[in-house]
Amino acid sequence: MTIGIGLLGLGTVGAGVAGILATPEGRHPLVGDLALRRVAVRDLQRPRPVDLPAAILTTDPEAVVDDPAVDIVVEVMGGLEPARSLILRAIAAGKPVVTANKAVIARYGEEIAAAAAEQGVYVLIEAAVGGGIPIIEPLKQSLGGNRIQRVSGIINGTTNYILSRMADEGAAYGDVLADAQRLGYAEADPAADVQGGDAADKIAILAGLAYGGSVQRSAIPAEGIDRLDSRDVSYAAQLGFVVKLVAAAQFLGTDADGTVQLDVRVSPTLLPKEHPLAGVHGVNNAILVEGDPVGRVMFYGPGAGAGPTASAVVADILNIAGIRQVGGSEAGLDPLLAASRWRQCRLVDPGLTQHRNYVRLRTSDEPGVIGRIGTCFGDQQVSIQSIVQFEAKGGAAAGAGAGAATGGAAEIVVITHEVGEARFRAALAAIEALPEVVSVAACLRTM
Ligand code: NAP
Ligand code: HSE
Repeated sequence: MTIGIGLLGLGTVGAGVAGILATPEGRHPLVGDLALRRVAVRDLQRPRPVDLPAAILTTDPEAVVDDPAVDIVVEVMGGLEPARSLILRAIAAGKPVVTANKAVIARYGEEIAAAAAEQGVYVLIEAAVGGGIPIIEPLKQSLGGNRIQRVSGIINGTTNYILSRMADEGAAYGDVLADAQRLGYAEADPAADVQGGDAADKIAILAGLAYGGSVQRSAIPAEGIDRLDSRDVSYAAQLGFVVKLVAAAQFLGTDADGTVQLDVRVSPTLLPKEHPLAGVHGVNNAILVEGDPVGRVMFYGPGAGAGPTASAVVADILNIAGIRQVGGSEAGLDPLLAASRWRQCRLVDPGLTQHRNYVRLRTSDEPGVIGRIGTCFGDQQVSIQSIVQFEAKGGAAAGAGAGAATGGAAEIVVITHEVGEARFRAALAAIEALPEVVSVAACLRTM
């Protein structure tokens, strides 16, 4: 039985999908049963990397959704609208949807899931997080017997590619970002990548699946790498850490009514060099799931780009095609494949969370300054793991230990043990008020 596919978008991901559908040899036999019927693009004249009959291209995406020859709608156009409305239109027509659009799912996932459940159709989203890494289905199905304590990961390929090349080659930020765009890793507006919004969309989706309730996307604090100072990457390296853009969702407890309390955030984060996420380089992503009783499970692989993302999209298409082939009724959706929500989640006040910190202070280089900084932390019961003075000019390490006077300005880097955010902020306020302290120049999470 042939299954008609309608593609909304023929850019990086869409062309990757069309390429797989056009070359079924050696793949799962069901790929040969998939026929690309209609494809929506914005510009009919644009050269395409795949050879498709001109007649199946259209600039009218609704015509793709409405085409009776289209059985499954694949949304890979990106953006919020018209993508959201087209997904809902497909669902209303009883057509299953496969989408890579994390921006839409993170914001309108509940609305879309409710519409899909009402219509009895699947909406599958494997490509929305982690590119080619299977992580959505494992969280929905394979790890379903666990209590998840934490999901953390490197889930933006563009920023990991940029950070890796800056660290390895000393490449300039703007040049590497341009390469990431040329390679098809970046979003149409790369601000979503470098400012942390794309990773926030993805951790909202992962947290929703891991904890069984939707997570309010707008409440997730997200910081990107666009304001990261290369000095902090260099100092971190000298102290045995690497800096990565980490997205994390941590279980903190439950309210009396069963609502799950979560700490969810995206931030440039110092990882000890031996941490499993520290060795994830280039466009690769990795997601570390910590659960009871499974322990730590890490999913690793290419996190962006045409081939890996198309691999995930086609996997979802095959899931739906397989169900149709065996005559499965979509009126009775498989609750694991469709994903269900069974409780509420809420993000806790960031002031109530606990973590380790890296702080870089610009100070005058005077005897006793390190001692006074230590006292401010001590007064708030903030325990210091290490305190190191660097020369402000040139950024070379001046060695660990208390204030070796070098004259002029100094940079003092402090790494704290795990501490409550409120105490940490109170200590920083006291430090900022010290006459020797010029500024708190950087403040980063540390794992
Ligand atoms: P892209 O290269 O910009 O492609 C978008 C495609 O959609 C283009 O073919 C464009 O047509 C078409 N399109 C956009 N708006 C349209 C409209 N209103 N009507 C008709 N066609 C329209 O984007 P992409 O990188 O493939 O990403 C697509 C989606 O996948 C996004 O949601 C993205 O977040 C997600 N995703 C991307 C990756 C990745 O590595 N790139 C990985 C995972 C998920 P034209 O070609 O004529 O402009
Ligand atoms: N722009 C995204 C990234 C694409 O770089 O990770 C994959 O979702």
